[in-house]
Amino acid sequence: MTGELSPIDKAKFAAAKRAVDFVEDGMRVGLGTGSTAAWMVRCLGEMVREDGIRIKGVPTSVRTAELARQVGIEVISLDEAKWLDLTIDGADEFDADLNLIKGGGGALLQEKIVATASDQMIVIADTAKEVGTLGAFPLPVEVIPFGWQTSRALIEEALINLDVMGRDVTLRMNGDAAFVTDEGNHILDLHLKRIGNPRQLSLVINQIPGVVENGLFIDICDVVVVGHGDGRVEVRDINAGTVEEEKIDFLESDNLFTDL
Ligand code: 5RP
Repeated sequence: MTGELSPIDKAKFAAAKRAVDFVEDGMRVGLGTGSTAAWMVRCLGEMVREDGIRIKGVPTSVRTAELARQVGIEVISLDEAKWLDLTIDGADEFDADLNLIKGGGGALLQEKIVATASDQMIVIADTAKEVGTLGAFPLPVEVIPFGWQTSRALIEEALINLDVMGRDVTLRMNGDAAFVTDEGNHILDLHLKRIGNPRQLSLVINQIPGVVENGLFIDICDVVVVGHGDGRVEVRDINAGTVEEEKIDFLESDNLFTDL
């Protein structure tokens, strides 16, 4: 069955499969959003159904909540959980310090709140997500609809004094209409090409009126699990300073694919 998956999907699946080894019985787990995180939710669902593991999941989007319920995970709100043992999520980019750009799927606000309310954040990614310097992927910024054009103008003005290579700011669209997040906001994508000082940029952007949150995750991620198309995975732990390599056996995972 895995033979029908593209190498990139196999890489995402391998990272997800390895990451769920961090989940233990009784944990409250933050569930990320996106195609890589969806593999992780399916793997966790399999652990719930077949191994009888009991977990409570806090989803970071409406679509992750739907998938989690479908695969048998008990879903609770962050307010019910209050604090989480672990969050597993994807990323659009990560650097050597495990700083991230997130929000390609438009869920950065919930993702940042959930990850920050967790003892540990694990990012699952394929090798294409690793960068020397953040910024090739457009930085998503969530803004409230009221006066969003003013917020955009203020962001453009602020970028003049910041260490970035590009300064185009575009409103994310969904067909002919502006994209609307789960919280009813819009997303501005900042085409910066290269972010020289992510920490400074994040602080400056978040001070602009109308900005709710930006997609830079600084000092939030603890571990990144990088998957390869042949099943190899690297587990990089920034706190322990360790890198471990393993191989995921796709055949053992056949149940998961046939269940889909
Ligand atoms: C959603 C996100 C995703 O984690 C990010 O876009 C990666 O998605 P994918 O796993 O589909 O490449 O931040 O807001």
